[in-house]
Amino acid sequence: MERSLRLLLLLIGTFSAIHTVQAQSKSQEGFISLDCGLPANELSPYKEEFTNLQFSSDATFIQSGKTSRIQANRESDFLKPYRTLRYFPDGTRNCYNLKVEKGRNHLIRARFVYGNYDGRDISPKFDMYIGPNPWVTIDLERLVNGTLKEIFHIPTSNSLQICLVKNGTTTPMISALEIRPMGKDSYITKSGSLALFNRVYLSNSSSYLRYPDDVYDRQWFKYFKTEWTQISTTSDVGNSNGYDPPKVALTTAATPTNASAPLTIEWSSANPEDEYYLYGHFAEIQNFQTNDTREFNILMNRILLFGPLIPEKSKINTIYSTSSVTCDEGRCSFQLIKTNRSTLPPFLNAFEVYRVIQFPQSETDESEVTAVKNIEATYGLSRINWQGDPCVPRQYMWDGLDCSNTDISTLPRITTLNLSLNGLTGTIAAAIQNLTKLEKLDLSNNNLTGEVPEFLGNMKSLLVINISGNNLNGSIPQSLQRKGLELHYQGNPSLSPLGTSTKRHGKSVLIPIVAAVGSAVILIVVLVLFLVFRKKKPSTVKVVHPPLSRPTMNATYANSPEPSIEMKKRRFTYSEVVKMTNNFERVVGEGGFGVVCHGTTVNGSEQVAVKLLSQSSAQGYKEFKAEVDLLLRVHHTNLVSLVGYCDERDHLALIYEFVPNGDLRQHLSGKGGRPVINWGFRLRIAVEAALGLEYLHIGCTPPIVHRDVKTTNILLDEHYKAKLADFGLSRSFPVGGESHVSTVVAGTPGYLDPEYYQTSRLGEKSDVYSFGIVLLEMITNQPVIDRNRRNSHITQWVGNELNGGDITKIMDPKLNGDYDSRSAWRALELAMSCANPSSAKRPTMSHVVIELKECIVSENSRGNMSRGMDSLSSPEVSMVFDSVMIPRAR
Ligand SMILES: *[C@@H]1O[C@H](CO)[C@@H](O)[C@H](O)[C@H]1NC(C)=O
Ligand SMILES: *[C@@H]1O[C@H](CO)[C@@H](O)[C@H](O)[C@H]1NC(C)=O
Ligand SMILES: *[C@@H]1O[C@H](CO)[C@@H](O)[C@H](O)[C@H]1NC(C)=O
Ligand SMILES: *[C@@H]1O[C@H](CO)[C@@H](O)[C@H](O)[C@H]1NC(C)=O
Ligand SMILES: *[C@@H]1O[C@H](CO)[C@@H](O)[C@H](O)[C@H]1NC(C)=O
Ligand SMILES: *[C@@H]1O[C@H](CO)[C@@H](O)[C@H](O)[C@H]1NC(C)=O
Ligand SMILES: *[C@@H]1O[C@H](CO)[C@@H](O)[C@H](O)[C@H]1NC(C)=O
Ligand SMILES: *[C@@H]1O[C@H](CO)[C@@H](O)[C@H](O)[C@H]1NC(C)=O
Ligand SMILES: *[C@@H]1O[C@H](CO)[C@@H](O)[C@H](O)[C@H]1NC(C)=O
Repeated sequence: MERSLRLLLLLIGTFSAIHTVQAQSKSQEGFISLDCGLPANELSPYKEEFTNLQFSSDATFIQSGKTSRIQANRESDFLKPYRTLRYFPDGTRNCYNLKVEKGRNHLIRARFVYGNYDGRDISPKFDMYIGPNPWVTIDLERLVNGTLKEIFHIPTSNSLQICLVKNGTTTPMISALEIRPMGKDSYITKSGSLALFNRVYLSNSSSYLRYPDDVYDRQWFKYFKTEWTQISTTSDVGNSNGYDPPKVALTTAATPTNASAPLTIEWSSANPEDEYYLYGHFAEIQNFQTNDTREFNILMNRILLFGPLIPEKSKINTIYSTSSVTCDEGRCSFQLIKTNRSTLPPFLNAFEVYRVIQFPQSETDESEVTAVKNIEATYGLSRINWQGDPCVPRQYMWDGLDCSNTDISTLPRITTLNLSLNGLTGTIAAAIQNLTKLEKLDLSNNNLTGEVPEFLGNMKSLLVINISGNNLNGSIPQSLQRKGLELHYQGNPSLSPLGTSTKRHGKSVLIPIVAAVGSAVILIVVLVLFLVFRKKKPSTVKVVHPPLSRPTMNATYANSPEPSIEMKKRRFTYSEVVKMTNNFERVVGEGGFGVVCHGTTVNGSEQVAVKLLSQSSAQGYKEFKAEVDLLLRVHHTNLVSLVGYCDERDHLALIYEFVPNGDLRQHLSGKGGRPVINWGFRLRIAVEAALGLEYLHIGCTPPIVHRDVKTTNILLDEHYKAKLADFGLSRSFPVGGESHVSTVVAGTPGYLDPEYYQTSRLGEKSDVYSFGIVLLEMITNQPVIDRNRRNSHITQWVGNELNGGDITKIMDPKLNGDYDSRSAWRALELAMSCANPSSAKRPTMSHVVIELKECIVSENSRGNMSRGMDSLSSPEVSMVFDSVMIPRAR
């Protein structure tokens, strides 16, 4: 249980000046606001006067339904968009079809106000679907003021189908539909979509908030309990961290009136299996004495989720679950409890709870949906049930279609298209060829004209074609004369069979050349061969990235589009991994995604480090395979090489070269029996790490962003050469942090690019920022974040000390003043430019490498190369140092 409850402290960066600009520019961009049933004679779009939202008619987004409006005496109770509605007396499933951005999280909100529009006073009850999956049942019984349903959902295609499905006798209806694209990395789940359970801000006064207070137009309701006291501020509170709750919501907070009591929010779970995601927003808004402290732990069902938290002054901190939580016996309790060191009670500004809904049914293959819609348009078909997904759920499959439907996780494909007796005119639609799994095509008894197209013969999946009873002309193409294809074409007076003229004019012809038994045998053989072949084919290790561009890499890649024998050997079975590590005997570390064990290759020749990954930490198995395949091809002397992997069912492991001499953090702190390293040596490690990073950025295509550069990820090998670890698994694994809150989505606090909070994206320049922090640590040996320090972040601390202009106050005292001050100043300036809050002002890694080499030259000019290196006894050290200076073949 505890293990599944991973939460994250999302710290707002130290640089908040840029935030406001961004927030203002988000003006309804991508918003879809539909006033359902808006009469055609009313202006559309129009600006709703209370929210300033731009609403438009829904008419072009749905092909069915009738429009109406609620009873006149109720109209004044509702905003204009919610007074009219669309209802669906015909058909079972009626769908809105909306253009959205595939793969992006969207807020979807539907509103329903019955308002006795039909004068029958019978509250409707029906179901809502998103694509082929059930979303929610709407039951308006007793809800005289209507209801709204809201969900965060990531569409799997660029078209989003919101369907109302009749289930019973009442008529489905809808008042408004609101779609809002969300920030890139917010409200992400391990699986499933997030249905709104509650979203509140803690205030005893004002009512509810939405756009424009909330840039994403989420709705926040006020919530307050009698045992709480309100605190509030009139000054500005920073709200920008990717979640961006309204500033107003952060200016108030609740704190328990009894200062030693916890702050508790409870709710009951209708179903004990229900899974929740939680989001707590905290901003310190009280001024208090310096002798006071506020810190508290965050608990869910009495289990510690996160803590202690010391909220930052006037800045947002969001704590959220990175995996779902459940409530035993249906009682859920979220609590904030002050630590005994804290002199002030806990507080909370705003809180969100969502319930997970799984959407397991895959949508029909997107290109087939496009094709069949194209066919529909070509022939001007308008069938009430051709709405929503063509194939699924099966009970709502479009008339005239049949689909392959093996299981819910595979994309359904169209296998039959029967447009017999539909009064079709014109030629045979070219879009039919895009139904690549089509087995039966029936276009009989229409008024089709023109020739029989060649492409029908090339559709290898086709078993039956019926084009009889039309007005087709010309001759039947040669390609349709193929084994196993049944062709009916009688009743086309101007059509000549096969090739040129012949007397068998107009007769029904069957062209299976091989006897049925024979073709069945062939089919089975082909099927078996296909299955065997497919199994062998490494479709699972398909590279999604383009090949790496370095000539050497290119050559390997181009010559072996299939993994080579050598590549295959890099895949190990779980039993080999057990043997390799001697049953995981020696644990050498705990990394971002799991424990690391020492091992030796089976023949004992090579030491390896085996990282065991918990299956649950992988976000997608396919992505894992693709990334591993890519990383197996990345080789650089300053990168820890991946030598193999294991992916046997539940067992995922990565096998790396073993790097024996600890990490840079240990060498800076002197912990773990590591000697403290001198200035010249630090510069060399910096150059080597920079070279590794430069290679990821410019030596690989596409560039690889490390995403988690920090001192504990810079390892030293037996020759004390620096090697960067833990890169590249960015897409299939969240980036690692420290200790138990390691599986966080947003990098390691302190090292994380402050621009990430605006863009939610990490690029090469984010690595440069993190590298700047690493350099500052190497220079100062100060902690990256120290809450007991007046300037808690290392950049603030250095920035402040720089005002004094005394380098000796900044440099690590453990260096005992033993460094060239010019090289020290230069390194410091470089570090600060890397850590510039604006990514555009940071140098590239290539520039960093050049600068660091200059620092080394300056340091070496002091003459005594080996001075101070006595603590490191390796004779190899100076040799390795020299090799850094030689341009190396990669
Ligand atoms: C419906 O809204 C009206 C006006 O806001 C309110 O007075 C009434 O109590 C509400 N009814 C219900 C059942 O919520
Ligand atoms: C439709 O209604 C029936 C009977 O009330 C119910 O069993 C079924 O679950 C409903 N379907 C959905 C998708 O909710
Ligand atoms: C809200 O809280 C403030 C501060 O505790 C208090 O002064 C005010 O009276 C409260 N208002 C209401 C309506 O309870
Ligand atoms: C305040 O809370 C503490 C801890 O929950 C409790 O022991 C104490 O009785 C409470 N005091 C009052 C006056 O309610
Ligand atoms: C902090 O100092 C103020 C006065 O400077 C005093 O009133 C208060 O009691 C002190 N608080 C604590 C927790 O010591
Ligand atoms: C806080 O309280 C716990 C339990 O009462 C105790 O074990 C711990 O030592 C206390 N911590 C401090 C810093 O006083
Ligand atoms: C197509 O539908 C018609 C009736 O609408 C039916 O007679 C015919 O057999 C169907 N064709 C195929 C290939 O199933
Ligand atoms: C085909 O078209 C002719 C006239 O153009 C019409 O008389 C006939 O009914 C049509 N047939 C079908 C099946 O629609
Ligand atoms: C078939 O699909 C492809 C790609 O989806 C598209 O470019 C092409 O135009 C389609 N062909 C027809 C005839 O619709």
